[in-house]
Amino acid sequence: MPDFDLAIRGGTVVTASDTVRADIGIRDGRIVAVADRVEGAAREIDASGLLVLPGGIDSHVHIAQPSGPGIVMADDFASATRSAAAGGNTCVMPFALQPRGESLRATADAYRAKAEGQCLIDTAIHLIVSDPTDAVLGQELPALVADGYTSFKVFMTYDDLVLNDRELLEVFAVARREGARVMVHAEGYDTIRFLSEKLERAGETRPYGHALSRPQTVEREAAHRAISHAELIDVPIVIVHVSGSEATEQIAWAQGRGLRIHAETCPQYLTLTAEDMKGIGDPDDMAGAKYVCSPPPRDAASQEAVWSGIQRGIFDIVSSDHCPFRYDDPKGKLNPRGRTSFRWIPNGMPGIETRLPVLFSEGVSKGRISLNKFVALTATNHAKLYGLYPLKGSIAPGFDADLALWDPNRRETIRQEILHHGSDYTPWEGFAVTGWPVMTISRGEVVAEEGRILGEPGRGRIVDRSVDPAERRVD
Ligand code: URP
Ligand code: ZN
Ligand code: ZN
Ligand code: ZN
Repeated sequence: MPDFDLAIRGGTVVTASDTVRADIGIRDGRIVAVADRVEGAAREIDASGLLVLPGGIDSHVHIAQPSGPGIVMADDFASATRSAAAGGNTCVMPFALQPRGESLRATADAYRAKAEGQCLIDTAIHLIVSDPTDAVLGQELPALVADGYTSFKVFMTYDDLVLNDRELLEVFAVARREGARVMVHAEGYDTIRFLSEKLERAGETRPYGHALSRPQTVEREAAHRAISHAELIDVPIVIVHVSGSEATEQIAWAQGRGLRIHAETCPQYLTLTAEDMKGIGDPDDMAGAKYVCSPPPRDAASQEAVWSGIQRGIFDIVSSDHCPFRYDDPKGKLNPRGRTSFRWIPNGMPGIETRLPVLFSEGVSKGRISLNKFVALTATNHAKLYGLYPLKGSIAPGFDADLALWDPNRRETIRQEILHHGSDYTPWEGFAVTGWPVMTISRGEVVAEEGRILGEPGRGRIVDRSVDPAERRVD
């Protein structure tokens, strides 16, 4: 009997700390050997000339999430995970969103049932807490954390999701007690409403009004408030989708004070700007709606500030915040109300398949970050922050054989027609990249190769996590 089910031979293996020429031996879906030479495998893949990276972990994606009356998200679990796999990912983390008035447990159960049997790659589920009742805080959340839902997102804006300061503090306190991870969407609700209504009164209803309704002040203020609450409760938090210089400054300030404030950014904040929401050059005057997401992309100076934050170690992770809607669709960006005001354009853009190539090209190929940093930002740190380490996120014996083979020299132009998501556009249409994931291996099985999907939906597992007991604080 061969020693290994699969050997990846001759590649350059990259982790968050090392870059070495090595073979990888895989058995029963796990890495069992990383060595100069691995022999005796039932199947071999020749990786010479390629980089062998941990498969991407995208810890911030929205899949099949309820999105308001008449609006439908463009991806279900099958399409989102197939698109993720084609883009070099082996694990995604979407959100079970609690509608107000409903049980969080029922929400988690229903969302999990939807994912079951559909996923091509492994999926771990976060919660969104929109209604922190006594029952949710006292019973449901602690029980769900114990059952493997060890992270939850809270919102400081959006009509149906916003928590007030008291509620944020209560959720933070539960996270501290249970050792769970809180993700914070930091934008100030009241300020956005104030500005949105003012813009509408002035007739500024086109998609670009979205950017005007959420200037950096709105994000900076909320980031500062979230940091202050986290300090008060003494709990680490992750501030997600940080868009620009001002929130980055708040986070750097907090980290400088020794607070455990983690930060995430996304490719849109490194490559797009608010100008994209003007749709300049497109005869369709709603075209800017494709770029409406929150927080909105900013400007060149903010892109530089976020790159600098990445280089200085202020950011732990780069996620996609994949939140796909179709553009040319009455259930998507061009819904009837969305045509009347930016306020009704569903927020979010597709990016699950393009996150890694865009960051690799703009980061590694352009010399802004090292390959090791790329791995940390796209896989290792996600696993560490959200309880998937040491199962996922690196290449060493014992880890799941979740790998992406990259051709660092391959030039591609991102186009909608080569992608696998359910949306009908990509914000990166025509974007030229250097570096491309040519093969994705999930637990030892090739699931994507050269844009072809090979695995069956349903082979991906729903992964439960557990908290680090040292993170639980009883006082
Ligand atoms: O606009 C965005 N980012 N939509 C997705 C939901 C969220 O807040 O992450
Ligand atoms: Zn958010
Ligand atoms: Zn951190
Ligand atoms: Zn999001």
